[in-house]
Amino acid sequence: MSEIKPKIAVLVSGSGSNLQTIINNIENGNLNCEISYVIADRFCYALERAEKHKIKSVLLDRKIYGDKLSDKINEILEKNNEKTSYIILAGYLSILSEEFIEKWEKKIINIHPSLLPKYGGKGMYGMKVHEAVIKNKEKESGCTIHYVDSGIDTGEPIMSIKVRVSEDDTPESLQKKVLEKEHILLTEGIKKLLENEKNERV
Ligand code: GAR
Repeated sequence: MSEIKPKIAVLVSGSGSNLQTIINNIENGNLNCEISYVIADRFCYALERAEKHKIKSVLLDRKIYGDKLSDKINEILEKNNEKTSYIILAGYLSILSEEFIEKWEKKIINIHPSLLPKYGGKGMYGMKVHEAVIKNKEKESGCTIHYVDSGIDTGEPIMSIKVRVSEDDTPESLQKKVLEKEHILLTEGIKKLLENEKNERV
């Protein structure tokens, strides 16, 4: 009998390199889980990545669903009828509703491209984070994964990795360095969460 693996849903808005890392690590056996759904809030390259790997994907255009977007995501996860262990925000840029966050407490994980609590909050995402870090002449930056609470980037941190910022770094070069670490962090973070969940079951 084949083993029933924990299911994760991955929410995306962009290129999906973090999604690709999860896919690669599932395919090479490093992560013992399955992606039940890739859900995007806009048309993005991440959807193509899901399709290439035959993963169920759904586009819920935030412009169409507006403040009903979280309800719709919840509906899809419920319809799936299988327990969703974690919802991974991998470059997902819409704000989830309080109701959704409450329902999935400690199950929603976000990856952010800075050492939180620095450079988090409203308007701090993607390249904007790296621009601010360079502008402030920081000596280090990095990435953080954290549980999602009702604030923006304020939930309890799980793990982070530091990156040294060199004097000749640009926002683009820093983004590249941080993204490489994000891929390691996200894999290690998901692995740790799945192991904890497994230990809780036995
Ligand atoms: C990543 O750098 C991720 O940390 C960031 O968006 C990028 C998505 O890249 N997320 C945020 O800024 C959320 N506040 P990807 O689409 O290649 O995974």
